[in-house]
Amino acid sequence: MTIIAFISQKGGVGKSTLARALAVEASKQKIQVLLADCDPQQATTLREAPKYDLTIIDGPARTSHATLEIAQKADLVIQPTGASRDDLIPAVKEFNALTKAGVSKKKLLFVLTRLSTPAEAKAVQEYLTTTCYACSPFFVLEKASYKQTQNEGKSITETKYLGLAQQAKELVNSKSLGEAPQEASQNIQAPELAPKDNRFTGRTKRIAFTCRPEFAEELRKMAFEGNCYQIEIL
Ligand SMILES: Nc1ncnc2c1ncn2[C@@H]1O[C@H](COP(=O)(O)OP(=O)(O)O)[C@@H](O)[C@H]1O
Ligand SMILES: [Mg+2]
Repeated sequence: MTIIAFISQKGGVGKSTLARALAVEASKQKIQVLLADCDPQQATTLREAPKYDLTIIDGPARTSHATLEIAQKADLVIQPTGASRDDLIPAVKEFNALTKAGVSKKKLLFVLTRLSTPAEAKAVQEYLTTTCYACSPFFVLEKASYKQTQNEGKSITETKYLGLAQQAKELVNSKSLGEAPQEASQNIQAPELAPKDNRFTGRTKRIAFTCRPEFAEELRKMAFEGNCYQIEIL
C-alpha cells in the first residue's frame, strides 16, 4: 500500500483540495483509496490494512510533531505552497526541518497552488530548483470556479470548466504524484534563504531619485548590513 501525505504548517494552501482531487481521480481508476484525516496513529494502523491500495493523508496545520510522524510513514510527502515570499520561506524551512529529522529528500515534493498566472509558476519553479527539493511541473491556478466546485462537495477535477478540470487532472494524474519524485536538483544553495528577487514580493518597484552623497552612503550601509536588501544603488 502506498501512503501519500499532504502537509504544510500553513493553512489554506490547498492540502485538502489536492488530497480530495487525488482521492477522487484515483478512485475513478478503480484504485482502492482511503482519504485519512491528519492523525499519524491512523497511518500506522492503515499500513496494515491491505484493503486499500492508496492512503491519502490530509495533514494538519501547525503541528510539526504530527507532521514529522506522518512524513516518516508516507511514501510521498507533498507540500502545496503559494508563490509569495511569505509562503515559500516557511515551506522550504518545513522541508529543511523534515530532512534534518531524517526524512529522505527523495520523497518530498512541492506543488504550487493558488497561483495568479502560469508565468508566476515558472518563476517559482525556477527558484525552487535552487533548493534540493523537487517541484511538480504541474500547478494549480487560483480560480473562483475551483472554490465553487468544492463548495458543491466536488473535487477541482470535476469543475464544469473543462480546461480547468483538465489542468487539475493532469496534476493529480502526473507521474510525480503517482510515484516517489525523481531526485531533485543537487544544487543546494542554503535553501532557508529567501529568493532575493522582486518577482516574489509583488510589492516592490524600482524608483529613481537623487540624494545627497551622505544619504547615499547611509543607504549603502543599510543595504550592506542586510537591513534593506532591496535597495539598489546605481
Ligand atoms: N486553486 C484554488 N482556487 C480557488 N480556491 C481555492 C484553491 N485552492 C484552494 N481553494 C480554497 O481555499 C480554501 C482553503 O483550501 P484548503 O484546500 O482547504 O487548504 P488547506 O487544507 O491547506 O487548509 C478552501 O475554501 C478552498 O476551496
Ligand atoms: Mg485542510
